[in-house]
Amino acid sequence: MAAEILYTIHVLFLLSTVRLAAEIIANGDNYRRNVSLELNPGLNSLLTLLPPGVGLLHVRALGKNNTLHYLLCSQGAPALLLVHTSSISSKVEVDWPAFLMQNTTGSLKVTPESSVLYSNALVFTRLWEYDDVNDTADPEHLPPSSFFQPYELQNFTWGDLNKTLEPTGHTALLCGRDASESFSNGSLCLKFSAFDVEGRDQGWPSLLHNANSSQLRVGLDGVAPRSNRSRFSLELQAVGDTQPMSRVDMLRSIDDEYTPSIFKVSQWVSSPVNSTSPVLGYAQWKPVAYRRPSPVFEDATPCRHSTPVPVAQLPPSGLVRSYFGGEHQTTGLNMTFSITGDPFYNTTNYLSWTVLVGLGSPPVDLFSPLVLVIMVLGLGTPMLIILLGGVCVCVRKNRPQTQVYEPIQAKPGYVSHL
Ligand SMILES: *[C@@H]1O[C@H](CO)[C@@H](O)[C@H](O)[C@H]1NC(C)=O
Ligand SMILES: *[C@@H]1O[C@H](CO)[C@@H](O)[C@H](O)[C@H]1NC(C)=O
Ligand SMILES: *[C@@H]1O[C@H](CO)[C@@H](O)[C@H](O)[C@H]1NC(C)=O
Ligand SMILES: *[C@@H]1O[C@H](CO)[C@@H](O)[C@H](O)[C@H]1NC(C)=O
Ligand SMILES: *[C@@H]1O[C@H](CO)[C@@H](O)[C@H](O)[C@H]1NC(C)=O
Ligand SMILES: *[C@@H]1O[C@H](CO)[C@@H](O)[C@H](O)[C@H]1NC(C)=O
Ligand SMILES: *[C@@H]1O[C@H](CO)[C@@H](O)[C@H](O)[C@H]1NC(C)=O
Ligand SMILES: *[C@@H]1O[C@H](CO)[C@@H](O)[C@H](O)[C@H]1NC(C)=O
Ligand SMILES: *[C@@H]1O[C@H](CO)[C@@H](O)[C@H](O)[C@H]1NC(C)=O
Ligand SMILES: *[C@@H]1O[C@H](CO)[C@@H](O)[C@H](O)[C@H]1NC(C)=O
Ligand SMILES: *[C@@H]1O[C@H](CO)[C@@H](O)[C@H](O)[C@H]1NC(C)=O
Ligand SMILES: *[C@@H]1O[C@H](CO)[C@@H](O)[C@H](O)[C@H]1NC(C)=O
Repeated sequence: MAAEILYTIHVLFLLSTVRLAAEIIANGDNYRRNVSLELNPGLNSLLTLLPPGVGLLHVRALGKNNTLHYLLCSQGAPALLLVHTSSISSKVEVDWPAFLMQNTTGSLKVTPESSVLYSNALVFTRLWEYDDVNDTADPEHLPPSSFFQPYELQNFTWGDLNKTLEPTGHTALLCGRDASESFSNGSLCLKFSAFDVEGRDQGWPSLLHNANSSQLRVGLDGVAPRSNRSRFSLELQAVGDTQPMSRVDMLRSIDDEYTPSIFKVSQWVSSPVNSTSPVLGYAQWKPVAYRRPSPVFEDATPCRHSTPVPVAQLPPSGLVRSYFGGEHQTTGLNMTFSITGDPFYNTTNYLSWTVLVGLGSPPVDLFSPLVLVIMVLGLGTPMLIILLGGVCVCVRKNRPQTQVYEPIQAKPGYVSHL
């Protein structure tokens, strides 16, 4: 009797595990957007000549009854602006002569302005380099003398987006360099990707993305470090219309199949102080950077972020100044690559780090199919053993003394109890 109950419970448990697994696999988010890329929207190249290194990429991601506009711009510090509208026909309007002046608010607009629901920009402002003589990897507690003059990304010379645009893959590569000697063989590149549907990048950290997100992979390649023990930090700033990106939430993730050895995900979110309200937009990353372009396990190096702080001025981005202008809340943080004991930049002269920028709630990693299979096997096998054990006990109980006193052949029907 007890064994039968146990058996029923086990079967139910197994079934529900399998169903949960199937649900998680099948329940992929299937929101789709129609993504199209356009360079320098509205620019009539006969009338306005672009200064070298200035480019504006516009990505329109059309939903069923709303549109996401991504604008990536290399005028000044590189910036990615995300604008969400409630219209399927919203447009980006650029007054190019004024836009190139960099000081005219409203020279870039998304119209109709009344359809704009949310806008937020992420700007890459500075690259800090410090001499980590004591291998603390903790720039926040180092004396100013440990820091080299930061590289101002607004002063970089940026490459032509037209040459790196891949309209079918929805990607573009923006590479820039500083005028100094250290960058004579080096570059800082931002690889932008827009997505029409949920998925994952091939290369680590293989962040989960969806149709409401885009990704930037930052690569610092071949820069001559100014000391043998140099480490780097990247300063990011965010500007928003209503809610600034004010806090970073660090979530635990139990599934490390896609990003080996990294069990955390950080998200810098734009959300009212009242945390019960939904998140409006975010920048999400895994706290890891890689020391080679095609990394193996040992090339991963953890990274840390500083607490976001208010910044007094708008970041030096032409895009931000012309879209937001005037007074807007700006917050900033530093992303520090590497920790104590990890090799210094000079060992590989390479670093890459990836961030997802999107609308609404950040994507959440669920159990991967592999982990689910392991779970089902892991839970299922002991269950099966217990279950078989139960059956055996049952069989023994149902075979009372008869077996002891009678020869087996004297009870031909006994097999049928099984
Ligand atoms: C996506 O947009 C393109 C260009 O505007 C259009 O030709 C195509 O039909 C659209 N596809 C869908 C599924 O809406
Ligand atoms: C847009 O569509 C979603 C469902 O697809 C719906 O919930 C929402 O109310 C719609 N918004 C508008 C403004 O029509
Ligand atoms: C913008 O800058 C130009 C020169 O760089 C100047 O002539 C113009 O007056 C400025 N406009 C505003 C609104 O500050
Ligand atoms: C490095 O450590 C030494 C000895 O502890 C200390 O005197 C020195 O100030 C440290 N240097 C830095 C840059 O922290
Ligand atoms: C960067 O450019 C700004 C403005 O163009 C200038 O004031 C500043 O001195 C430059 N910084 C460096 C490190 O070259
Ligand atoms: C991009 O380059 C192609 C040729 O390489 C040219 O025809 C096109 O006009 C360029 N587009 C822009 C926006 O500069
Ligand atoms: C850049 O590379 C060239 C050739 O490999 C080399 O001679 C030069 O020293 C390098 N410059 C720096 C700053 O590393
Ligand atoms: C993407 O945004 C649209 C519009 O706000 C929303 O309806 C949809 O559920 C979102 N999809 C995801 C995966 O967040
Ligand atoms: C870096 O280390 C190498 C070899 O250890 C040495 O030759 C070189 O002078 C050092 N450079 C600096 C800037 O300390
Ligand atoms: C990098 O710096 C370390 C620590 O100073 C030094 O021992 C090593 O020789 C340097 N490596 C290269 C390739 O310069
Ligand atoms: C948070 O929001 C809820 C509902 O929107 C409201 O009732 C509550 O008072 C808010 N709390 C704070 C601290 O603002
Ligand atoms: C980033 O770090 C540098 C050097 O420690 C510091 O001067 C700067 O204020 C930091 N920026 C932010 C936004 O925290």
